[in-house]
Amino acid sequence: MYDSGKIITGLIIFVLFVTFPIWYNHGDAGAVPKVELPKDSKECVLPVEQMRTEHMQLLNDWRDKVLRTGDRSFDVKIAGKEYQKSLMNTCMQCHSSKKKFCDQCHTYASVTPYCWDCHLAPVE
Ligand code: HEC
Ligand code: HEC
Ligand code: HEC
Repeated sequence: MYDSGKIITGLIIFVLFVTFPIWYNHGDAGAVPKVELPKDSKECVLPVEQMRTEHMQLLNDWRDKVLRTGDRSFDVKIAGKEYQKSLMNTCMQCHSSKKKFCDQCHTYASVTPYCWDCHLAPVE
């Protein structure tokens, strides 16, 4: 009465279809998009997990310090090099593609930082 072959094939297709978002994203349906990381450096100004969640606060903090106290120094050295508190001269020196880095994530997260109304993005 039933064609078990067809039912099983149907079930397999159904399961693949329903679970597509899970295995397509390697088991994590909420995975962040792939961003292009700098090729010539291995570390960010802070540990990467912290950067992922706190880079906005860090940028605000840098801006306030620079504009209110004129303090541009940043006391973290990366591979022996000192960096300033600066969006253009620090972040964008390593993350040299706004499109393939910042935008990639922001589009996914539906945020549009207004910083680029004034700050220059790297020429691409
Ligand atoms: C010295 C080069 C360098 C500078 C300067 C730098 N970054 Fe990074 N950044 C990196 C590298 C390399 C990684 C990847 C680190 C890793 O995967 O462990 C990274 C990772 C990140 C990540 C996480 C990306 C991910 O994989 O999820 C964010 C967000 C980020 N940086 C934002 C910034 C911002 C904002 C600034 C300026 C405040 C900045 N970075 C300055 C090199 C840099
Ligand atoms: C790993 C993903 C990721 C990367 C890469 C990334 N961001 Fe973000 N960024 C986010 C998320 C998610 C938010 C929203 C956070 C929230 O609303 O709490 C955000 C918010 C911001 C904000 C605050 C915007 C607002 O309206 O509140 C600024 C400023 C910002 N990012 C700057 C940058 C810059 C500059 C770069 C590139 C150097 C960058 N981000 C790269 C994920 C990322
Ligand atoms: C209305 C224009 C404007 C907007 C929008 C703006 N900035 Fe700025 N920002 C400035 C000016 C002007 C300075 C001072 C430049 C200097 O003295 O080097 C500055 C300085 C900074 C500095 C420290 C100096 C440097 O070289 O980067 C940081 C960090 C910064 N802004 C981050 C941000 C971030 C993050 C955003 C978006 C959330 C943003 N700014 C939006 C105008 C703007």
